[in-house]
Amino acid sequence: MKNLLINSLFVAICLIILIFLFAAPEETTSKLPNNSIHAEFHQIKSKKEADRLCVACHADGKQAPLPEDHPAPFRCLFCHKREPL
Ligand code: HEC
Ligand code: HEC
Repeated sequence: MKNLLINSLFVAICLIILIFLFAAPEETTSKLPNNSIHAEFHQIKSKKEADRLCVACHADGKQAPLPEDHPAPFRCLFCHKREPL
């Protein structure tokens, strides 16, 4: 009897967590663009490897600086995901 109670409680908690996750807002961070500039970065297997090359253009005084309120600019592809090809 006690086991049944514990099991039901467990299932209820799992359901609540699931509903919570499904209700999360859609991911809004922009993806790595799928254009000729960024094409090579879709090819590089290692994200860490690719990340190091982004700041050549995405940094202060470069071609496409990051916005001022941008979060710490490490591991770019962790947030700016690559579209599954
Ligand atoms: C050769 C220069 C160059 C390199 C290297 C580069 N980018 Fe870009 N990126 C650009 C330019 C130019 C734009 C367009 C900027 C604009 O529209 O203001 C852009 C735009 C973007 C955007 C914005 C897309 C949008 O929807 O607004 C993201 C995200 C981005 N790059 C991520 C990356 C990441 C991650 C890397 C490294 C893997 C990278 N870029 C490497 C030049 C570069
Ligand atoms: C912690 C998550 C995170 C990391 C890591 C990160 N970014 Fe961003 N980036 C964001 C968010 C959030 C924005 C705000 C705009 C948005 O929602 O896309 C943004 C905006 C940008 C923009 C402006 C265009 C746009 O989409 O608004 C560029 C370009 C960009 N990031 C490139 C980079 C590059 C290059 C790196 C690595 C050096 C990087 N980001 C690392 C979260 C991140």
